[in-house]
Amino acid sequence: MSRIVVVSNRVPVPAGNAGHAGGLAVALLGLMESRGGLWFGWSGAVTERVGAPGFVQRGAVGYATLDLTEAEHGGYYTGYSNGVLWPMLHSLPHLMSFRRQDLDTYRRVNRRFADNLVPLLRRDDLIWVHDYHLMSFPAALRARGVGNPTGFFLHVPFPGPEAASVAPGIRGLVQDLLTTDLLGFQTTADRDNFAAAATGFTDARRTGDAVIEAGGREIRLGVFPAEIAAQEFAATAAAEARAEPARLLERSLGGQALLLGVDRLDPTKGLPERLDAFRRLVARRPARSLALLQIAAPSREDVAVYRRLREELDTAAGAINSEFGEPDWLPLRLLARPQPRETLAGFMRQARVGVVTPLRDGMNLVAKEYIAAQDPADPGVLVLSRFAGAAAQLGSALLVNPHDAESMAEALAQALDMPLAERQARWQVAWGAIAGASPEGWGESFLRALAPEELDRLPVAGRA
Ligand code: G6P
Repeated sequence: MSRIVVVSNRVPVPAGNAGHAGGLAVALLGLMESRGGLWFGWSGAVTERVGAPGFVQRGAVGYATLDLTEAEHGGYYTGYSNGVLWPMLHSLPHLMSFRRQDLDTYRRVNRRFADNLVPLLRRDDLIWVHDYHLMSFPAALRARGVGNPTGFFLHVPFPGPEAASVAPGIRGLVQDLLTTDLLGFQTTADRDNFAAAATGFTDARRTGDAVIEAGGREIRLGVFPAEIAAQEFAATAAAEARAEPARLLERSLGGQALLLGVDRLDPTKGLPERLDAFRRLVARRPARSLALLQIAAPSREDVAVYRRLREELDTAAGAINSEFGEPDWLPLRLLARPQPRETLAGFMRQARVGVVTPLRDGMNLVAKEYIAAQDPADPGVLVLSRFAGAAAQLGSALLVNPHDAESMAEALAQALDMPLAERQARWQVAWGAIAGASPEGWGESFLRALAPEELDRLPVAGRA
């Protein structure tokens, strides 16, 4: 029988050590649990020797995962994926750190993943590959004779061809992606940038908005903005706002307006820029009138840039509190620890302002979560970077340029002072854009574009 085979670097193995679930895992988990299938990727573990895949079955989902050796982790994950591709794809080339052997390791790990997946494949599986860690994986599958319908979704942005070309190795990876049947992107801008890179770097021709021709084959391009389970998140937020953590937070605020940021501690998230804007805001407001709670969950601590960012944030946060704090009040609460998703939903509902100001972001599901978490009768205001993919759908937020600290501070002030009627009107429009969406719907639309007939034959778990 047909099934869906998802391949991603990060696999949320139940009770495994895959670490904090990022946007990708959150978006896919619901779909896999309802559709069932095989999820293949990295176990999250680093071991001494190369081994066979481990396997865990939970309900309708089988998880097959490989450990990485120290050298593989260093070259493929830390080195090339997060030290070269991630900064390039987010248009932050000065943060790149390239070593030739890391690119070789990246390609070798992609091939090893393919070697280990091939024996697990069935003839009519639909294969869906995810994100920048696995850009040469589809070509490795084809080289091993796999002809199954294969799609690839890029969760992060794709820059224009000039900006992309700064990453050594990118031309070959773009070529490798042209072995798929369907390439999915978060926004039309990402799709068009990729198409420009494909036609610029290779012999491919763009024969339509949504079609590229390469090597005598057609590759379809699609735009599939990642979604959250909006209704479910809204219900969680309403319940969690009455739970202990939210009540403790509320009590500690004593009537101060709460601004909230929730991010991985990542250079793309614009955290120093955000603190700069907040410092300007605090300087203009009465003491004890507001507080920023910034959650910055540590991430990729093997990458030097991330470690330096942590230090930079600690210093900036200390400076704000020492300059503006009072014996009984500190304006900024910076927490470099992840928090449970449900707890955050409750905090989001309490926050007068949701601050989502990445320098660049593929989508940013926190922006959608913040909208979903609001009380429709008294909603808070989302301040959103225009360089997040979410801005294409959430245009009724206060859109800001994260590089302009002064205008960001003005937008934060405007959000705090916004009259109820305007807050409600803006929130209604944003809610309308996400209320009907779900990660399952998002995944289904991708798979339907990949192979409409096969998908109709696939069962939905729990449905007769
Ligand atoms: C982003 C990427 C995902 C990644 C996640 C967490 O959302 O698009 O591919 O899994 O960040 O990062 P990590 O390096 O911890 O997997």
